Amino acid sequence: MALYEFDGKRPRVPDDSFVHPQASLIGDIEIGHECLIAPGVSIRADFGPVVIGNRSNVQDNSVIHVFPGSRVIIEEDVIIAHGVILHDVHIKSRCVIGMGAILLFGAVCEEDVFASVGSIVPKGMIIPTGKIVAGNPAKITHDVSDEQKKMAKEGIDYYRELCKKYITTMKPVKGC
Ligand SMILES: CC(C)(COP(=O)(O)OP(=O)(O)OC[C@H]1O[C@@H](n2cnc3c(N)ncnc32)[C@H](O)[C@@H]1OP(=O)(O)O)[C@@H](O)C(=O)NCCC(=O)NCCS
Repeated sequence: MALYEFDGKRPRVPDDSFVHPQASLIGDIEIGHECLIAPGVSIRADFGPVVIGNRSNVQDNSVIHVFPGSRVIIEEDVIIAHGVILHDVHIKSRCVIGMGAILLFGAVCEEDVFASVGSIVPKGMIIPTGKIVAGNPAKITHDVSDEQKKMAKEGIDYYRELCKKYITTMKPVKGC
């Protein structure tokens, strides 16, 4: 794993979570249980802490950073899809942040929020529980349906299984 201590603080990753060796985790990072951090993810907690709750996943090439005096909090059962950028945000439980979304300084996603693919959530926007946002700047479009909540829960469960599989079966291939 590419985990780096910085300024006396180091990432904490429990044994039942998986961080791909090509993810880069620097500094004051706390990862919960059964989390999966995919290849290419950069979490740079050099100015402030990053906390990721149980069963959440951060997918390929997503970037998480923090300004001085701030923090990033991702609560439990959150999906951060591929290529997302998060800066100084608080994402509460069961949110889905779609591919390529960018969430800016001080944005808050209350529980069960979906940020659509490619949405740009402006600084300080507080997205109420169970809303979908889309566009640039992101606007609330409609409510998350029960079916979509069910699909998000299934997504979390698939990733928990994937996490176990990565821990037990992934190995570098000799000669590559
Ligand atoms: C948020 C999301 C679930 C909404 O899906 P939905 O509820 O089926 O919404 P619809 O596709 O019916 O679209 C509703 C409206 O939002 C608009 N919209 C949907 N996605 C949008 C997007 N990414 N950007 C801008 N507008 C979007 C639609 O054009 C539509 O507008 P209209 O009412 O004027 O026609 C879906 O757009 C999305 O982004 N899913 C995330 C996918 C993802 O990254 N998953 C993780 C994979 S690892």
